[in-house]
Amino acid sequence: MSNRFDVISIFPEYFAPLELSLIGKAKSAGLISIGIHDLRAQTSDVHGSVDDTPYGGGAGMVMSAEPWGKAIDEVVATNPSEIHELIVLTPAGEKFTQKLANELVNSKHLIFACGRYEGIDSRVTDFYKTMPNFKVREVSIGDYVLNGGEVATLVIMEAIIRLIPGVIGNPLSLDEESHTLADEAGTLVEYPNYTKPQEWRGLKVPEVLLSGNHALIAEYRKEQALIRTRNLGK
Ligand code: ADE
Repeated sequence: MSNRFDVISIFPEYFAPLELSLIGKAKSAGLISIGIHDLRAQTSDVHGSVDDTPYGGGAGMVMSAEPWGKAIDEVVATNPSEIHELIVLTPAGEKFTQKLANELVNSKHLIFACGRYEGIDSRVTDFYKTMPNFKVREVSIGDYVLNGGEVATLVIMEAIIRLIPGVIGNPLSLDEESHTLADEAGTLVEYPNYTKPQEWRGLKVPEVLLSGNHALIAEYRKEQALIRTRNLGK
């Protein structure tokens, strides 16, 4: 199970929400530990510059390899683990999915590298890919471009941390969620949910859910999940 998360960014303040809600509680309870590291702490010039113009020309700036190398080495030195999984956030990476979350939750140590601008000098991933105690993945949260990897890291961390036993009050609820509900054709999104009152603004809760007939309810929910999934074009 993942229990150690390190994040490297030029905007450590982005990660304040990790103190809230279930993740904040998981931290206080000692289920996980999270380190947030300022990339600029690894720079030696007065301006704390972390980027430079691209070789070959072109618009924008590229993040320099050296501060990244130093930051990653420092995080590894203080967190001995057999294997470190380095996640580099980029719109050019493999797509983040529930399946990947289920896989990453089994990594003991995850390091998130939040790139900005036109990304990080490619030699950083090239270098750590050659290290026997590293696994390197470039990951995207979707086909759109953000200003940097910070928000993507928050998304991925939340999806992983909630899978850790003890983080969610009722672990059974994990089994009935969207993308976990399975059928022969693949994953389904969740069926619609209702709670009290039975009628709201003239809209009634579907009768079958009040029937107490568990087999019928399960059948109805499966059908609804299939309809919703089909409507998403999956
Ligand atoms: N950085 C910029 N856009 C991104 C995206 N879509 N996913 C992950 N990191 C990003």
